[in-house]
Amino acid sequence: MTRPYLLASTDSEPVKRFYDVIVIGSGIAGLTAAVGAARKWKVALISKSVLRDTTTFLAQGGIAAALSDQDSPQLHFEDTIRAGAGLCKEEAVRILVNEGPARVRELMEICPKFDRAGGDLVLASEGAHTVPRIVHAGGDATGSEVASALTEAMQQGSRVQVLEHEFVIDLLTNGGHCIGAVSLNLKTGVFTLNYATVTVLATGGCGQVYTMTTNPVVATGDGMAMAFRAGATIGDMEFVQFHPTGLYSGNSPLFLITEALRGEGAYLLNHAGERFMVGVHPQAELGPRDVVVKEMVRQMQAENQEYLLLDATHLDCGMLKERFPTVHDTLLNRGYNLCHERIPVTPVCHYMMGGVVTDLWGRTTLPGLYASGEVANTGVHGANRLASNSLLEGLVFSDRIVRDLDRYISSREESARRLSILLPGPSRQGNQADGVASGRKKLQQIMTSDVGMVRSEDGLMNAVRELGLLLGSLRAPRADLEEYELFNLITVATHIAKAALLREESRGAHQRDDHPETDDINWKRHIDFRLKG
Ligand code: SIN
Repeated sequence: MTRPYLLASTDSEPVKRFYDVIVIGSGIAGLTAAVGAARKWKVALISKSVLRDTTTFLAQGGIAAALSDQDSPQLHFEDTIRAGAGLCKEEAVRILVNEGPARVRELMEICPKFDRAGGDLVLASEGAHTVPRIVHAGGDATGSEVASALTEAMQQGSRVQVLEHEFVIDLLTNGGHCIGAVSLNLKTGVFTLNYATVTVLATGGCGQVYTMTTNPVVATGDGMAMAFRAGATIGDMEFVQFHPTGLYSGNSPLFLITEALRGEGAYLLNHAGERFMVGVHPQAELGPRDVVVKEMVRQMQAENQEYLLLDATHLDCGMLKERFPTVHDTLLNRGYNLCHERIPVTPVCHYMMGGVVTDLWGRTTLPGLYASGEVANTGVHGANRLASNSLLEGLVFSDRIVRDLDRYISSREESARRLSILLPGPSRQGNQADGVASGRKKLQQIMTSDVGMVRSEDGLMNAVRELGLLLGSLRAPRADLEEYELFNLITVATHIAKAALLREESRGAHQRDDHPETDDINWKRHIDFRLKG
């Protein structure tokens, strides 16, 4: 079987570039991998936008790691496993919690802005953590502080070639190995074959499959889709995390209001003014995200409302301004005073727990291809990610990828550079009748109404059918970013819907109203997908 490249044939001969390592994506996972790999190897970091246009950059909460005397990796392990609702891979979680503290301390050497009081790190509480363990920088600006520090570290070394506005369309494969990626320069329209002995996917998540998400518009699941097309295994796709407190508004991406605010004592209220989480979970508003979201959906249905209320008015206003400057100022710009009024909030698509399956060294099932960060499925999150474990995962597993490079690269002495790749021409006809923008909108509507927070067999079957029809209506993409993204979104959305249909139970972030119970006998296992042949 010929492998399905998405790229249509190009009129001109593509440019060729050669590297030891290419890293695709510029969030914490990509930057960490690039900085580490560049100590020894010739590296390119490729971003389809500008470096800072990532989910990492938007992260408010912080990084979870057992750094205090009251904490331990064992406690962090137990919290992560409990939140993951029976599907975490324990060896991966052990690595996350054991190696995490050292990685965070290393990060602090290049990013001095982590918040301290009297020299000690300030540790925040977030949902389902039994002790305060979240380190943060600039109050609620952790992601931008960390991303800026890592970017500076990368730019100080001369070995990383940074390619912005360069969209990776597909991975290149030969003889069962990944040997790089083909990209399109979005400014010049030039296609390039980027040959590399190792390719690291760090492309982030796929929140754009839903109408409302906290993810930036670039989060279109490109890495998951291209890895799948190249023959790698993807899995746990049914587990999409909704965050309890997106600012209720008509425009996606929704502004996230960090869980750390509830960690400082903010309440969730229904329209009758009741703290509805009290009695639902021992940690009330700080229960695991899946538990809080499930109850929020119930409350909104019972009250026939589209949002609930986040109340911080009983907290000290000076503290709110100092600890949450981003949240405070952004809300003020949007007409809400956090100190004095209740804020309308709604659960919103936030994070993909599934993705490209990796082993404990970030290796995917396709030799030569590694994955780290949200695009990867290392197994640490199970069916429901523990808050602030995601930046940590990027740090820990990108570091392990860097440590594995020697082994892989030396086993591949004859690099891929002598190979020539035959890219196939268009394989799909269609008239693009509805246009790309309306195609994306339609996909988001299908996913939101049928594959959202609560799912059922009828809706999921409808979604799979509708997504198939949408795919069938498209022509092969040419040189337009949105066209490629739409194909990737459809690939990812279809696998979310198919996995959700298969999993006839409710667990973590996957809730079925026709199968409301958790079924450990039949479903304490993972659903993987791999291209036939
Ligand atoms: C938050 O700040 O609430 C988000 C943190 C996370 O998603 O881990």
